[in-house]
Amino acid sequence: MNQVRDLLAKFDSRYRTAAMVYRAPGRVNLIGEHTDYNDGFVLPAAIGFSCWVAIAGRRDRKLVLYSENFDESIEADLDSLRTRATGKWADYPLGVAWALEQAGFRLRGANLYIQGDVPLGAGLSSSAALEVSTGFALLSLDHYPIESTKLALLCQKAENEFVGARCGIMDQFVCCHGRAGNALLVDCRSLEFRHVRLPLGVQLVICNTMVQHKIGTSEYNVRRSECEEGVRALSKTLPGIRALRDISLADLENNRGLLNETVYKRCRHVVSENARALDVAQALENGKTELLRPLMAESHRSLREDYRVSCPELDVMVDLAMKQAGVLGARMTGGGFGGCTINLVNAADSDKFLRCMTEAYEAATGHYPQIYVCEPSQGAEKAEPGAFGTKVSSN
Ligand code: GLA
Repeated sequence: MNQVRDLLAKFDSRYRTAAMVYRAPGRVNLIGEHTDYNDGFVLPAAIGFSCWVAIAGRRDRKLVLYSENFDESIEADLDSLRTRATGKWADYPLGVAWALEQAGFRLRGANLYIQGDVPLGAGLSSSAALEVSTGFALLSLDHYPIESTKLALLCQKAENEFVGARCGIMDQFVCCHGRAGNALLVDCRSLEFRHVRLPLGVQLVICNTMVQHKIGTSEYNVRRSECEEGVRALSKTLPGIRALRDISLADLENNRGLLNETVYKRCRHVVSENARALDVAQALENGKTELLRPLMAESHRSLREDYRVSCPELDVMVDLAMKQAGVLGARMTGGGFGGCTINLVNAADSDKFLRCMTEAYEAATGHYPQIYVCEPSQGAEKAEPGAFGTKVSSN
């Protein structure tokens, strides 16, 4: 099935007009976890799952949104968006429209048909894909040029201020800037980035634990506050620092007395994880794939023990992966408390990996895992009618 033509046909039967289609991908993070809101480094890649938005203008200032995934239609007035936050899926696209208008873009009313295949609630950024595809569509409708970094920041603002989730910039940024075949090393302070090519024959295999523990959101905010507390305490003797990005492990050790044990461990994770993100980027660039395994293993250990955002299912999934042939590295990915692991796997071994992991994880936990074999994909773009949908194979 041609995804874009299919979407245009559905749009036409719902709204009786022609439309344009825009696409934005989900993401997986290779390494650099819980570092983005500490002004640090991340190394995510856009993946083959996407959110698709078909759009056509209206004569008034109304937004009419239909989500195929939720089979629900919502109407809102561009002049009173602020009053429309409801705690449901529509907050993401409406929040983006609100953030764009706040930034001075005068938008036209529009009809939108939204469809996505990023697994929901799996930590693969279905929300960033929804935000960015909507923002791309709304700006394009009015012929505004797309500045990817600005779009990412406005989508983050929508999520922070309209939806009310305190996420960092990683998800929206890679959704906008991703490039096929590459991961993206981002300096989350300067927002400078560079594309990091994945070695030939290495695949991104994402294992979904199929659990998502509810404490995740509140614990995310607790971790952010603990990092801020660390910076406040450390700045007594390190006055120049603005974020954990600014300190070395030696600084941390020398000032350990200023921190309680929990905050010390949180800081140790962030500081060491920043170094690992840079090391993994360099290992990939230099073809030193043998360095990935210990770096990713140490990242997982640090997230489990120091940052305490893993869970038994993620730990089982990583332990099982480390026993399979052809695995260059494995760790949890995303915010934690469930969701997915990321595995770098030799293409020749990925079928076997998929089969063995499915069996072993189900036997160990009773949950049948979903496993996705992906290539790093292109960031947000206009989707031409000839374009085919995403290519992700799974079990
Ligand atoms: C979530 C957030 C990101 C980032 C990760 C952890 O995915 O949306 O901004 O903080 O958690 O690395």
